[in-house]
Amino acid sequence: MQGRRERGLQGRVSLVTGAAIGNGRAFCERLAEEGSRIVIADIADASDTAEAVRRLGAEVLTIRADLTKPDDVATMMETIRAQWGGVDILVHNVGLYEEEPFELLSFEQWKRMLEITLNSLFLTVKAVLPSMKERGFGRIIALSSDTVWLGMPYLVHYVTAKMGIIGFVRSLAAEVGRYGITVNAITVGLTATQRPDAAPLSQTILQHILPTQAVHRADEPEDIANVVAFLALPESGIITGQTINVDGGVARH
Ligand SMILES: NC(=O)c1ccc[n+]([C@@H]2O[C@H](COP(=O)([O-])OP(=O)(O)OC[C@H]3O[C@@H](n4cnc5c(N)ncnc54)[C@H](O)[C@@H]3O)[C@@H](O)[C@H]2O)c1
Repeated sequence: MQGRRERGLQGRVSLVTGAAIGNGRAFCERLAEEGSRIVIADIADASDTAEAVRRLGAEVLTIRADLTKPDDVATMMETIRAQWGGVDILVHNVGLYEEEPFELLSFEQWKRMLEITLNSLFLTVKAVLPSMKERGFGRIIALSSDTVWLGMPYLVHYVTAKMGIIGFVRSLAAEVGRYGITVNAITVGLTATQRPDAAPLSQTILQHILPTQAVHRADEPEDIANVVAFLALPESGIITGQTINVDGGVARH
């Protein structure tokens, strides 16, 4: 008999950071489809994402926070604790994309990139980890970029920060596996997130990279969301400390 598929994340709480737009919204929708309650944390207004999640019938909590600020992260966690007790799944999706030739790159730009990419990861993981330990279950999934494998120009600060994510997941995974917590990264290829501010240089890179891919199309946010959902499922509990590359098979020369 064909019944309705059991949803693998029923009753879980997923925190998706940087989910006002782009990939993060697709992650929220996909995790909601798996039955999870969704917390959206973003420095920007995320009401459109919240509405999209509600339309799927999922419960949603929206928190406005600058995740590079310890006080904002602490307040976010208190709100989640009060509402739903804790976090089962963290998708660290906050990011900043910026192209700058190294010779023009300022120390301020460098520090801001590390702050948004890595300080926010440190603070958010510190905040959610105790509740994951209490639950004996946790999934930490961090968004990196396939540019870390490609040696792209004008991205020294971005690639350095995104490579830091890979070191973070490998090392933390070894500490927290015993508590049922997995920690993985996804290196994302060019994604059709249709950002309104897409830089002209990005269009150039798009034309440069697509022909080098085995699959000649940009990632869709839903492609990445499927991998996020896979890693979040209880059945994926043996996969940890890994980085999954999702980029249409870019040839590396
Ligand atoms: N789009 C791509 O082509 C692509 C490629 C490789 C990797 N990625 C990675 O995937 C992730 C999502 O990509 P995207 O294109 O959807 O990103 P995006 O830039 O469209 O969205 C990032 C989100 O993070 C939020 N944010 C930024 N700083 C914040 C802060 N301090 N506190 C809280 N929220 C903050 C922004 O408001 C925004 O909603 C990023 O980590 C990005 O680096 C994207």
